[in-house]
Amino acid sequence: MGLTLRALILAASATRVLASCAHGTFLRPRAEGDTVEVANFGYTGTITINLHGEQGPLNWAALETPANGACATGSRQSPIDMVEGVFEILEGSNVELTVNDMPDGAEFENLGTTVEVITQGGNLKVGEKEFELQQFHFHLPSEHLDNGTSQAMEMHMVFQSANQEIAVIGTYINIADAAAAEAPAKRSRIFGRQEAGAGGAAATTLLETVFSVVDQIATPGTKTTTPPLVMSEVVDVLKANAFQIYSGSLTTPPCSEGVSWHVSTARLAVTTATFVKARDVIGFNARFPQNTPGEPNLLMVSALGSAAAAVAAVGAGAPAA
Ligand SMILES: *[C@@H]1O[C@H](CO)[C@@H](O)[C@H](O)[C@H]1NC(C)=O
Ligand SMILES: [Zn+2]
Repeated sequence: MGLTLRALILAASATRVLASCAHGTFLRPRAEGDTVEVANFGYTGTITINLHGEQGPLNWAALETPANGACATGSRQSPIDMVEGVFEILEGSNVELTVNDMPDGAEFENLGTTVEVITQGGNLKVGEKEFELQQFHFHLPSEHLDNGTSQAMEMHMVFQSANQEIAVIGTYINIADAAAAEAPAKRSRIFGRQEAGAGGAAATTLLETVFSVVDQIATPGTKTTTPPLVMSEVVDVLKANAFQIYSGSLTTPPCSEGVSWHVSTARLAVTTATFVKARDVIGFNARFPQNTPGEPNLLMVSALGSAAAAVAAVGAGAPAA
């Protein structure tokens, strides 16, 4: 059977898939019943050939048109490099944040593009705006860059308001350094960032608990239940630090803009063994850093560059008349 025909049949039999950073929000409602839906996009080239060809972030806009258009044309896309000037600082003490504990554990799903914990209530109140927590999931390595530097992982806590606005708390996750856990930390005045003292941080119990069962959902489309989750540990850390805030987008299709980003200056941590265990399941799921908010989408810039290169190539290769 020819490649084209096989691609057609594969595409026709693929279920419509809805997983993304916005899973569980109005943009990507969770499936009814027991199924865990696997995403139709990816992070690398051609693991799944479908009608549109490659499924990585360079091609997200073509995977679902016009729904994913902002991925290629939006000028306030996420993630970004968190350099001075692109964000404002909001002290953690100036937001109201509550997340319900999950004494019976939580549903933990492999969506193919991330692993996600379905939460059981929680609120973020910033000024007059109130958002409700839907889920948290992980990216490996981090999607945002901390002043040019990638971090081991990033956790996204996804909130939605009653009028369907989305806010996300992004928190970097580093490898724990047990030996130096007690070193006092000081905060950078400009970045509000928690500077490590003599060493790194101790492992975050919440993350160790969640990832203790990540090997049970190694296959996309599977789910399990975590051990009991206590959320106050992370909530307290977030409130004691600051948020670097900016208006950006979902970092996954449909790349919708108007997302209120709160990138915490706090650092969570996992042990090396836990990092390896998570990495073996997640693989790689970070979108490339986008242009400075307000500047043209990098894919538009790249299209212009390709056109210029094509003209140059024609010029250079043109036979003398
Ligand atoms: C950010 O990185 C630049 C260049 O690497 C450095 O000069 C600057 O001090 C850094 N800023 C902060 C606040 O760490
Ligand atoms: Zn995310």
